[in-house]
Amino acid sequence: MSRIDKVATVFGGTGFLGRQIVADLAARGVRVKVATRVPEHAYSLKPYGQVGQVVPFACDYSDGASVARAIAGSDLVVNCIGILYEKGKSGRFQKIHVDLPALIAKACAENGVGRFVHVSALGCDTGTSRYAKSKLEGEKAVLANYPRAVILRPSVIFGADDDFFNMFAELARYMPALPLIGGGKTKFQPVYVGDVAAAAVQVLTDTHTGKNGPEGKIYQLGGPEVLTFREIYGRLFQFTGRQRCLVTLPYGLAKFEASFLSLLPKPLLTPDQVESLKTDNVVADGALGLEALGIAVHGLDAILPTYLERYREGGRRRVPGPGDKPLRDIR
Ligand SMILES: NC(=O)c1ccc[n+]([C@@H]2O[C@H](COP(=O)([O-])OP(=O)(O)OC[C@H]3O[C@@H](n4cnc5c(N)ncnc54)[C@H](OP(=O)(O)O)[C@@H]3O)[C@@H](O)[C@H]2O)c1
Repeated sequence: MSRIDKVATVFGGTGFLGRQIVADLAARGVRVKVATRVPEHAYSLKPYGQVGQVVPFACDYSDGASVARAIAGSDLVVNCIGILYEKGKSGRFQKIHVDLPALIAKACAENGVGRFVHVSALGCDTGTSRYAKSKLEGEKAVLANYPRAVILRPSVIFGADDDFFNMFAELARYMPALPLIGGGKTKFQPVYVGDVAAAAVQVLTDTHTGKNGPEGKIYQLGGPEVLTFREIYGRLFQFTGRQRCLVTLPYGLAKFEASFLSLLPKPLLTPDQVESLKTDNVVADGALGLEALGIAVHGLDAILPTYLERYREGGRRRVPGPGDKPLRDIR
């Protein structure tokens, strides 16, 4: 693997996907600034590189000057900041998915950044949820300020620290039945976190420009299998060894229940998330994707057993690696 003598700023480098991107960039010799609201959260990323190679950088996401300072001196920039829900009319989708990417893109243009990768979400162009609409607005804001930006749209991302399979596996430990919203017919194309990070690093480091390069292009990232929500539950039960009843919840009823669940400090489900289940989340025919980037994709069956094992009766606890969130013991 060739070493890359460049500096990168990663926004959201403390997150699930961002940690993998930081690790992959550091392994290629890139010096990485992890722009974060809480530098302490990035300390655990330092062992990914040599001494001083991975540096936490405090950033106020609402302040253009602060965002520009985080980017100054960098050749490469990645934005993987995102949220899944907003509370009430807080306007957080607008701030985090639209205004912040616009600030980052503007600072990239003004600081002569060579390549900027923005992580969006698959289905943002067809979805009717406020989440999807804000992600699409964010893409437009990015391209308006930095037309050469590369957009990555992943489907639901899985990997050891994901919130998706881990959350349902956790629920399956306590609940005799799990909800099948809208009959569980919505299709997904789960994609491995390592493959999404590899895509980000590939487009960041690809030196081709013009039509042979990734600049200004949108990549839709999905794994090798398309599964309905019902089938995803099937895979979960297979690898956790915990079979549960599935109870169909019509969208209307699910939204009603979600309006109460969304009052929790960290909502289990929001009405907007129910809305997002009304549209399939799969790569469109003819779209550019992981194959176009030369990335060999990993399927669910290869990865899920490596971290769902711990949800089995008497399952072994996974040994955490650097940058992992602390795991709770499972009894
Ligand atoms: N995970 C998926 O299945 C999935 C699927 C499709 C698209 N995506 C997109 O991929 C990107 C990365 O996803 P992820 O799962 O890695 O995200 P994540 O871990 O949930 O969060 C990424 C980063 O966002 C920042 N952040 C979180 N809450 C915030 C808030 N309220 N205000 C400001 N910043 C906040 C945090 O950075 P600091 O704490 O360091 O400031 C965090 O490290 C996101 O854009 C997401 O929308 C994810």
